[in-house]
Amino acid sequence: MSIGAKWEAVYSTRAADEVSWFRPHLETSLELINRFAGGSSAAIIDVGGGEATLADDLLQQGFQNLTVLDISKTALEVARKRIGSAADRVHWIVSDITEVNPPASAYDLWHDRAVFHFLTMPEARKAYIERATSAIKAGGHLVLSTFGPNGPTKCSGLDVMRYSPEALQALLAPAFRLVADLTEIHTTPAGAEQQFTYGVFQKS
Ligand SMILES: C[S@@+](CC[C@H](N)C(=O)[O-])C[C@H]1O[C@@H](n2cnc3c(N)ncnc32)[C@H](O)[C@@H]1O
Repeated sequence: MSIGAKWEAVYSTRAADEVSWFRPHLETSLELINRFAGGSSAAIIDVGGGEATLADDLLQQGFQNLTVLDISKTALEVARKRIGSAADRVHWIVSDITEVNPPASAYDLWHDRAVFHFLTMPEARKAYIERATSAIKAGGHLVLSTFGPNGPTKCSGLDVMRYSPEALQALLAPAFRLVADLTEIHTTPAGAEQQFTYGVFQKS
């Protein structure tokens, strides 16, 4: 099964609030975006946004230049439907982030919660980092949230990587420099605790 088909299967069999990564609101992401985006006119892309309520909340906070990309058409349709007519103000892209060619220097802030850690092959990580490096403006930010060193080793049956902020920095240098990090314990809808690392990286 292709990676896209795998995610379609996940989203067509589980409700938005049943998946392990569900949170009613991505509070930590919202806080970091507000801190580092540089204002509500910032161009922001949520990579692997899925069915998350991040776009809903950013629209409500007045952000005007939003893009949500995901490999799953089903997930983006759920998000668009939930947002309603305001969804027309968001640019929606169904694509694999390791294959798409995003426009150069297009985004002030690139957000990824729980997507990069699924890239277990070095070539896929390289493709992702090349795209982020090209698409983020000089001085712009990459907000990356992955499983932490004590996080799960699998998610939705897929192997994952686990990262400390320093491990992410080692992968992202020299194009990006770590400017903030934190650890979060996420409680899944089933009650399990998962350690997440958040790193904010500035593009040189
Ligand atoms: C664990 S979910 C996280 C969803 C959302 N970021 C959140 O925090 O609620 C991972 C998401 O990444 C998407 N995804 C996985 N691999 C991808 C890829 N190579 N390109 C684009 N999206 C991908 C999946 O479809 C899924 O929506």
